[in-house]
Amino acid sequence: MNHPQSPPPLVIETDPLAMRARVAEAVRGGLRVGFVPTMGALHAGHDSLVSRATGECDAVAVSIFVNPTQFGPREDYSRYPRTFEADCGRLRPLGVRWVFAPSVEAMYPAGDATRVHVAGPADRWEGAFRPGHFDGVATVVAKLLSAVPATKAYLGEKDWQQAAVIRRMAADLLLPTEIVVCPTVREADGLAMSSRNIYLSESERGRAAAIARSLDRGSELWDRGVEAETIERSARESLGSVGFEVDYWSIVCEDSLVPVAELPAAGGGVRPRIITACRLGSTRLIDNRGLPPR
Ligand code: PAF
Repeated sequence: MNHPQSPPPLVIETDPLAMRARVAEAVRGGLRVGFVPTMGALHAGHDSLVSRATGECDAVAVSIFVNPTQFGPREDYSRYPRTFEADCGRLRPLGVRWVFAPSVEAMYPAGDATRVHVAGPADRWEGAFRPGHFDGVATVVAKLLSAVPATKAYLGEKDWQQAAVIRRMAADLLLPTEIVVCPTVREADGLAMSSRNIYLSESERGRAAAIARSLDRGSELWDRGVEAETIERSARESLGSVGFEVDYWSIVCEDSLVPVAELPAAGGGVRPRIITACRLGSTRLIDNRGLPPR
């Protein structure tokens, strides 16, 4: 018998239709179901999404699925960390009810021919540097939300563009799940938590916090009224000088992802955000920071 304080037993479900039946039954019974989609290799950033979900919902599902279609041919699909047992051990005390862990074959059955393509916020930045990435993300998230028809789904703000693309898709496809975007969790030196941080060598890890510092500095310059293009140039130069290859470091409208420098001067109502992707050795890191409107 369970102690009254002990978390509910964790159910691991691999079959999408059985998963959907479990969630649908809970929702029919009047429960609010929260959903945290992940690729595993869980860290404190995922914990914070789960805590928010358990705080707002009656039952929580977490998916663990390393989605092949969102990786490019030269990306890290095969070496992406897979730590399923440790992930389940981490989720158990957090009060998660279901782990949805489908196989690639279950998510992409024989003859699979459908891709979800989101334009608009998906076109630039990650969309340009990682062609096909957002088709893979949108497709898998549409499938995951079909298998886990939750009341709310929780995504991390660290992947800001991903969250904007998924929100766009959910609105366009009239999906009933509310998309909730939660704050980035950071290491003590400011580095945004990511499953890919484990790829950093000791010396790269020491330098990686320069990305977060560039966001601090950019935000100070923005508050002082410096023009977006000047701030961007200075951030790219300073990251370049400490060994980063900067794919982009730009101040954009946070919903459309269009650079503020391209918007009409009287672009009232625009919520600006710095977004960046930088490479350190073979590791690619992304980060972002909201700025006050001007
Ligand atoms: O952010 C991630 O971990 C993945 O892109 C997601 C949303 C789980 C889709 O595979």
